[in-house]
Amino acid sequence: MPPDQLTVTLDADGDIGILTIDHPPVNALSPTVVRDLGASLDEFDRRGALRALVLRCTGRTFCAGGDIAAFDEPGFSPAPLNALLERLEAGHRPVVAALHGTVLGGGLELALACHARVAARGTRLGLPEVRLGLLPGSLGTQRLPRLVGVPRALQMITRGEPLEAGEALAAGLVDTISDGDPVPAALDRARALAEAGGPLRRTRLLPLALGDEARQALAQAYEQARDRPQEPALEAIARCVEAAATMPWERGAELERESFEHCLRSAPSRALRHLFFAERRVGRRAGGPESAAARAVRHVGVLGAGTMGRGIAMCFADAGLDVTLVDTAPAALERARAAIGQVYEAAVARGRLTPDAALERQGRIRTARDDTALAGCDLVIEAVFEDLALKREVAARLGRVCRPGAILATNTSTLDVDRIAEATGRPADVVGMHFFSPAHVMRLLEVVRGARTDAAVLRTVVQLAREVGKVPVVCGVCWGFIGNRMAEVYMRETEFLLVEGATPGQIDAAIESLGMAMGPCRMLDMAGVDVGARTVIERDRDGGLPADPAYRIVCRALFERGRHGQKTGSGYYRYEGRRALPDEATLALCAELAQRHGIARRQAIGTREIVERLMFSLVNEGARLLGEGIAARASDIDVVWTAGFGFPRHLGGPMHWADETGLEQVVQGLNRWAAARGNAHGYWSVSPLLRALAQGGGRLARWEPPGA
Ligand code: 3HC
Ligand code: NAI
Repeated sequence: MPPDQLTVTLDADGDIGILTIDHPPVNALSPTVVRDLGASLDEFDRRGALRALVLRCTGRTFCAGGDIAAFDEPGFSPAPLNALLERLEAGHRPVVAALHGTVLGGGLELALACHARVAARGTRLGLPEVRLGLLPGSLGTQRLPRLVGVPRALQMITRGEPLEAGEALAAGLVDTISDGDPVPAALDRARALAEAGGPLRRTRLLPLALGDEARQALAQAYEQARDRPQEPALEAIARCVEAAATMPWERGAELERESFEHCLRSAPSRALRHLFFAERRVGRRAGGPESAAARAVRHVGVLGAGTMGRGIAMCFADAGLDVTLVDTAPAALERARAAIGQVYEAAVARGRLTPDAALERQGRIRTARDDTALAGCDLVIEAVFEDLALKREVAARLGRVCRPGAILATNTSTLDVDRIAEATGRPADVVGMHFFSPAHVMRLLEVVRGARTDAAVLRTVVQLAREVGKVPVVCGVCWGFIGNRMAEVYMRETEFLLVEGATPGQIDAAIESLGMAMGPCRMLDMAGVDVGARTVIERDRDGGLPADPAYRIVCRALFERGRHGQKTGSGYYRYEGRRALPDEATLALCAELAQRHGIARRQAIGTREIVERLMFSLVNEGARLLGEGIAARASDIDVVWTAGFGFPRHLGGPMHWADETGLEQVVQGLNRWAAARGNAHGYWSVSPLLRALAQGGGRLARWEPPGA
């Protein structure tokens, strides 16, 4: 938009003013919009002949709230907007909001300050600030309870989930629902209010008392806040909503202002805001021109009906696409059909799907034993065993069987996508689609760009992934791509620490103290020590490991002893049911391995050492991926870790965590460990990018490659 073009204008329909916010794409309330809104209200004041005002927004949605990007600007405050809302509400001429699309955050707070609200059917209204580690900052905590009561307001603000127009009507949040464009209905309403001439319904003046139900809801909100201390906004929300019911308006408003500013500066909110933009940035400029036209995908083929194949099939069937699932083993197909049936039955039992919808989704998945059934598919994803020779054989067949123009994808988690692509005879059509298990649930998809992948293929897959609800992070070809390659250095240090004398319990506790849901030992026990060990053994066979005889010896030894983790009753820990208990046998094994490899044991390995060795290695590997061009931007790495590896969202991902910790400190730590541990295998060599950013006072999360 040209800088001099107004984002808010005032027109009229007869004697009713129409105030229009036009600030694509989502009419966020940037400082410019707030300024223009003020100017339009000044004009409305001057045009005394106008008897009422309708407030509307153009484009696909009403208003998505405050401009999140502006929150980082020095001196940002919602005070100017709040003053306008007060002015709007206090005016003597009726103001009616005409709502459509999504009415979120500051957008809903704007509507709450109007004297009536008309919503198009299908409109969604909510206060999602909590998802950004915030509370509403434009008097939402004060006005919403006055309109819908304390329990409903607490539910909406603490969950951040929007209400659909019908629910909003029932809750008293909107007054009228319109079919189609809400503006004519809002004009009628504005006229009627002007003609009635009675007192206007000002939300801030509505009475609010604290009854039993409200007290109970508040008690629950405080309890939830105590259980989730990593989300400080929860307590602030409860306190502000309580204030709405127990304190004069001005004091409630003041408390909300202080709490909002406090949360805005808090580490969890910085992390969540970082992820908000990070998730929207993934897949952009993923290689090749943005203009490359995407190919149409209506019918998806999946080859291999094992754990991953089934999940992938459901992911597309859930999104309304036709799927053909092929496996050469009849028993595998039978198991897949049964497993898919169970998933949908469970969804029906939990009330998440109607029986008809479940049948419809299941009906979209056809199964076959012969890969010629894939001939007409637009996209075929192979998910056969992780074996390069087999994958190449299958790729060659798919290259012949699939129609020209069909996209051929591989779900390999570690193998060389270029070598698989080459075997198809049409590498431009080939791309990696690395789903995470369970594939119909996990949001992350690593989209692997091969050396010869066509830009249109990449674009199609990124677009399709978004359509089916995934977050597609594009990366280049290397062992383990982004997530598994980084996880490998984290596990490497875990195992060295074990051999040096730390216990699994100490390591997990140190990592969990950062806010991680699960430390590495419990994590691998759950995922399967056998799965981890096989990957290491396979990589060793391919010559991909450092020439270090002590490399990941613990998981290999556990594997040899049949200690495959939770499923076999022992791994790093021993298990009583799902309860992980310390196991003397693991400690003895680690001591034995130390002796065999000449590694000195130490008595006291502290939390700081554990955190630094695991986390600094992780960050360093992430920086190497950036330097090598495997990852396009640091924020992509953070999305991989938060969407696919359970890294806590309130820490923002490893690269954001590194920025918050201080890059200089990370580099110093890496150097310190290089000196203490030796660096014969390059484990502690600092990534040149990390070093340069640390020296220049830069931040990883803001870094993008030159020319991006
Ligand atoms: N501020 C700044 N930019 C925003 C924004 C916001 N509130 N909401 C969306 N955007 C941007 C996105 O970053 C994206 O930009 P890009 O095209 O450059 O990547 C663009 O708008 C489109 O957004 P989506 O890709 O998310 O579009 P969808 O159509 O999928 O979703 C939406 C639209 C449902 C509105 C979704 O964007 C959304 O949930 N937005 C955030 C809503 C929110 O959290 N509001 C509260 C803000 S905090 C606030 O209001 C504080 C107040 O109380 C003081
Ligand atoms: P799986 O062992 O559960 O299933 C593999 C299936 O492929 C079996 O049903 C088998 O019958 C079938 N198959 C083998 N050869 C075939 C052929 N020539 N034609 C048709 N079908 C054939 O394996 P899983 O776990 O589903 O893994 C599949 C792929 O997904 C592997 O590449 C793996 O690395 C990858 N992956 C696995 C993840 C996991 O958590 N299991 C996560 C991400 C990727």
